[in-house]
Amino acid sequence: MDFNLSEEHEAVQFAARDFAKTELLAGVIDRDNQQKFDPALTRKMGDLGFLSMMVLPKYGGGGMDTLSYVIAMEEISKVDASASVIMSVNNSLVCWGLQAYGTDAQKEKYLTQLASGKMVGAFCLSEPEAGSDATSQQTTAVDMGDYYLLNGTKNWITNGSSSEICLVMAQTHPDKGHKGINALIVEKGAAGFSVGRKEDKMGIRASDTHTLMFSDVRVPKENRIGEDGFGFKFAMTVLNGGRIGIAAQALGIAAGAFELSLKYAQERKTFGKPISDHQAIQFKLAEMATKIEAARMLVYKAARLKDQGKDYVKAAAMAKLYASDVAMWVTTEAVQVHGGYGYVKEFHVERLMRDAKITQIYEGTSEIQKLVIARELLK
Ligand code: CAA
Repeated sequence: MDFNLSEEHEAVQFAARDFAKTELLAGVIDRDNQQKFDPALTRKMGDLGFLSMMVLPKYGGGGMDTLSYVIAMEEISKVDASASVIMSVNNSLVCWGLQAYGTDAQKEKYLTQLASGKMVGAFCLSEPEAGSDATSQQTTAVDMGDYYLLNGTKNWITNGSSSEICLVMAQTHPDKGHKGINALIVEKGAAGFSVGRKEDKMGIRASDTHTLMFSDVRVPKENRIGEDGFGFKFAMTVLNGGRIGIAAQALGIAAGAFELSLKYAQERKTFGKPISDHQAIQFKLAEMATKIEAARMLVYKAARLKDQGKDYVKAAAMAKLYASDVAMWVTTEAVQVHGGYGYVKEFHVERLMRDAKITQIYEGTSEIQKLVIARELLK
């Protein structure tokens, strides 16, 4: 076990930290207040390579490892979790999914565009009646010979209005259950494809979350990912990696709230001394730092296992389960350390607390992570 970061990993950390401070920090409160998704910022992230970090150089990506990706996710999430969810979905669900399972033609057509930062993608699994119970897909993809006829509604889709392509899971053979589901690449301009309402969210308010509707959308057969019926396995496999990304996001939210608390505690005075001199605050800071370090170990372990080509299903679920709980706990304590200032927007920690909550919900709730871990332990 090597607990040190390589020079390359430190360079990624520096670049992501710099981007977060120079480009994201200034407008983060305003974007949250106004629920303002800023396409120019997404484009900048794309130009700098943050949206396609693990895509191979032959497709125009950074060719980096998962550890680099989680290091960058942590730094960007410290400042702006709305930006980092866009980054996470594009990197781990869309780009990685296409790279691992797409055909050469699909990679040439779509992955190269995604890697150039010119387009972002969306991952469409959740439905009004299929969130945790993801095998219950109601969206249908009827086999019409050389195309699929797609009908249905997808909910809470990150990059919903900004994505140029969507990876859509849909049922083709209901009699086969989850083995009848297909994953299809659907282009934004397709006839019958419409973007529905934007969600008014508690946190990550500057990310672009929409309902998407498909009404008799014709999807060419060559846009199916993998064999007929591979769609659910595709979604689950891709989500295993996605969960490492969201664990890194949770870690970053916690670490960002901790850094603000550490600074504030040394500046704010009560009873004639900085509050960091009070043991009540010292204990909070000590516990926050310890939990964050433990979460970082789990996130790095899952990333390392993935990079080594080993099984990372359990490690990814553990990292997300633990890091998201740490994010919720640390951000709540950060508000407490800040007292009244913590409850107002300009001190950032109340936003981080709201942002933390979603990490216990998306890409599999904490309860689903426990189910995945238990199944791995018992199999
Ligand atoms: N990795 C690989 N395969 C998996 C898997 C995993 N983590 N979990 C399940 N599978 C496979 C199973 O092996 C099984 O395949 P086989 O029959 O070939 O063995 C198949 O999937 C179905 O699994 P189960 O029989 O266990 O089905 P289930 O209904 O009992 O449980 C579930 C399935 C694990 C609960 C699954 O539905 C699940 O993970 N739900 C959560 C869905 C989720 O994470 N949604 C996130 C939405 S995307 C998002 O949030 C993106 C965003 O915008 C931020």
